[in-house]
Amino acid sequence: METKDDWYNVELMTQHAFWNKHHLGCDEHYLVHKLRQDKDYLPELSRIAVKDGVVIGCIMYSKALVVDGADTHEIITFGPLCVEPKWQGSGVGELLLRETMNLAANKGYKGIVIFGEPDYYPRIGFKTCDNFHIKTADGKNFDAFMGIELVKDGMKNIKGKFYESNVFENLPREEVEEYNKNFPQLQKLRFPGQWD
Ligand SMILES: CC(C)(COP(=O)(O)OP(=O)(O)OC[C@H]1O[C@@H](n2cnc3c(N)ncnc32)[C@H](O)[C@@H]1OP(=O)(O)O)[C@@H](O)C(=O)NCCC(=O)NCCS
Repeated sequence: METKDDWYNVELMTQHAFWNKHHLGCDEHYLVHKLRQDKDYLPELSRIAVKDGVVIGCIMYSKALVVDGADTHEIITFGPLCVEPKWQGSGVGELLLRETMNLAANKGYKGIVIFGEPDYYPRIGFKTCDNFHIKTADGKNFDAFMGIELVKDGMKNIKGKFYESNVFENLPREEVEEYNKNFPQLQKLRFPGQWD
């Protein structure tokens, strides 16, 4: 579990992991900062990976909802999940996932829904959400929208539209740029595979 002393290093590692991955630069380190202050953040499930005193991975959980009319189900989501680039592919991501999925199951959570890399999570057992009768807030299903049951049939009766915490949608570009001043000034570069 992270302490206040780890905050900067967790954000620095997050910046390294996501820089130029999905966009020019990234905003995930600012998301980590905002999440920690958010009412939906679940520190009791969130974990960091530390090797020889250095932070090399993190997974952060928050509350989310699946809503079907007046019927509201509380579930959980995570993000960011990331690993320091030089440690990627060593099993750290899987370790963080498996440990926290156990924690969540033991605390009685029924399932996890995420937006994530469609080629990574199925190896851990995630399935696309059309398998669970769960759609995005605008009624869609696609490969990057996945879930997993933490107990058998845990999401059988959870139907509806998925809403993650507002914090994920509230990262204004100017705030990200301002926050970036606290970090190494990495170069913004275009790569294939970026979303915009
Ligand atoms: C995605 C990430 C968390 C995975 O953690 P990791 O510790 O590197 O992965 P693991 O060691 O547990 O698993 C390694 C396996 O997953 C595969 N893998 C890793 N990242 C992948 C990706 N983005 N897409 C597809 N497969 C991926 C590796 O090729 C490897 O496969 P192999 O075992 O067949 O060789 C990590 O690579 C990362 O931080 N990436 C950048 C940030 C990111 O994209 N985060 C996820 C956002 S949803």
